[in-house]
Amino acid sequence: MIELKNLKKKFNSNYVLNDISFKVEKGDIISIIGPSGCGKTTLLRCMNFLNTSDEGYLTFDDETYDMANINKKEINNIRKKTAFVFQNYNLFLNKTALENVIEGLIIARKIAKNEAIKIGEEMLEKVGMLERKDHYPSQLSGGQQQRVAIARALALNPEIIYFDEPTSALDPELIGEVLEVIKQLALEKRTMIIVSHEMRFVRSISTKVIFMEGGHIVEEGTPKDIFENPKEERTKEFLDSYRREL
Ligand SMILES: Nc1ncnc2c1ncn2[C@@H]1O[C@H](COP(=O)(O)OP(=O)(O)OP(=O)(O)O)[C@@H](O)[C@H]1O
Ligand SMILES: [Mg+2]
Repeated sequence: MIELKNLKKKFNSNYVLNDISFKVEKGDIISIIGPSGCGKTTLLRCMNFLNTSDEGYLTFDDETYDMANINKKEINNIRKKTAFVFQNYNLFLNKTALENVIEGLIIARKIAKNEAIKIGEEMLEKVGMLERKDHYPSQLSGGQQQRVAIARALALNPEIIYFDEPTSALDPELIGEVLEVIKQLALEKRTMIIVSHEMRFVRSISTKVIFMEGGHIVEEGTPKDIFENPKEERTKEFLDSYRREL
């Protein structure tokens, strides 16, 4: 479904992504793990063209794009098939939960308001937020705001959803409710790429785990490969720091 080939990205003259390649099949749940600063966020952002790239090719549904030379129209074509869930929810603060969810449907997808409201309510129901559809973000907890953000992503019916540390801004007691929603999406076989430090969650949900360090993929494999039988010393060391959690 997606193939990323030889992605390179530098900030100033420093390469923060150096030759990243991997494939995503439909229904894959790929988790990206690695130390702070290793390039996880930049990788997701480059894949969704929220950051520019210096080199690399992205194949999406049989169409191959030169990531360093891509135009607005091509980016829009890709974005029609993707959605992004951010660490800090990125909701419009002056819009209610429902208005946040339907905004993209009305503006980007040109769907009639009545129809958008129907879809929006359905998605809020899915994440357990229908009762609070008229609440503004300031009236919602972090976990609730993130669930609204997930409903917003789902409303666009994307082929793939990118999650960048969807629970790392949350108080510990609110993490579970967001992870539960994502687990539900996994059961529905939605294709997802998830950057997360929640190792137990990563281990239980992923079809593939990618361990990155210093802008490289050090190792990738099934959760069993990575968590039970890592080949690389660096993967072992990194996971050792999470041993108590696992
Ligand atoms: N806009 C920017 N300008 C310059 N350097 C940047 C910029 N954004 C990120 N970087 C650098 O790129 C590297 C990778 O950053 P990135 O945010 O992708 O890491 P990360 O793996 O997501 O880290 P974390 O786990 O802390 O979120 C870091 O060294 C960071 O300082
Ligand atoms: Mg990050």
